[in-house]
Amino acid sequence: MGFFDRFFHPNTTNEPFVDSPMRDNWYQASSYWPSSFALITTVDEEGNTNIGPYQLTFPFEVIGGRSFIVCSRQGSNTETNIHQVKKCALNFVEFDKSWIKKIVRLGYPGQTTLEKMEDNPFTLIDSPTEGRAQDPLFPKILKEAFQVYECTFDSEQSIRDDGKTPEYMVLRIDNILLKKTWQENIENGTTRMPRMPIAYGFRDGHKFWFAEHKKPFWVPTPTDKGPKEEAVLYEANRLEPDSVQFTRAACKQLTGVPKPFIKTVLKGIIKQAKADGVALVDEDYVKKINDERNS
Ligand SMILES: Cc1cc2nc3c(=O)[nH]c(=O)nc-3n(C[C@H](O)[C@H](O)[C@H](O)COP(=O)(O)O)c2cc1C
Repeated sequence: MGFFDRFFHPNTTNEPFVDSPMRDNWYQASSYWPSSFALITTVDEEGNTNIGPYQLTFPFEVIGGRSFIVCSRQGSNTETNIHQVKKCALNFVEFDKSWIKKIVRLGYPGQTTLEKMEDNPFTLIDSPTEGRAQDPLFPKILKEAFQVYECTFDSEQSIRDDGKTPEYMVLRIDNILLKKTWQENIENGTTRMPRMPIAYGFRDGHKFWFAEHKKPFWVPTPTDKGPKEEAVLYEANRLEPDSVQFTRAACKQLTGVPKPFIKTVLKGIIKQAKADGVALVDEDYVKKINDERNS
């Protein structure tokens, strides 16, 4: 916070806590909840792609299964289309104030797809995923997005359907599309973050709050806490998760490798494991490779 903000921003540290009345949509009507939001594209009955803005989009299954949960009011175009067609794409865009105003317009309830798309600031393009451009069930995606999750509705994971609550939809992530720069950023050690807008929700019947954040920064994870092999294990099992995995004991063997070299060493072991047809690298296998290299 700069000097100006600090000066005018209320300092509440010494205030007592008071109850906030519980309302529907409590996250925005009784409290403060900052989050990203997705522009969900789906296909309507006539084959038109619809864009709906959704803040309540959260990662759900994160290890093994990969899914997202979306909470939508009943009867939105997005909810209707997802239940009918089962396919959707969650498009994430960077901060641009002129887009934000148009996004709020896309979030005005009661518009048909054709009505709302007249004012759409985004370019709809075919999915680059094989087979999707030709198939009218798959929605188009936004050219301006930096990231897109292409999803399929998971009807087996229904959370609650009493006809009164919003629709809680679990969406299985078929694939994650990133613009090249952002994909390489992750692969090469993440040196920056996209400038994602932050949504603070709908207030007082007539306004939507948003924020642009400052340049993100990172802090190192503590090296004096927990088992030493944790960082090695994390790195090892995300390199080629579908072909070679490492046991914790194997990673313990590698904690002496200096940090700048660990990725290269792990890649070397994976290459060797693949050549040997080994899918699980354990302590004995690391020892064996070490012995071979040292002999
Ligand atoms: C930034 C933003 C976030 C929103 N988040 C949600 C949400 O999480 N759930 C919801 O039901 N509506 C949300 N809305 C309202 C929907 O966008 C609105 O219901 C809209 O009609 C949905 O479009 P659709 O009918 O084309 O799906 C949001 C609106 C905006 C502008």
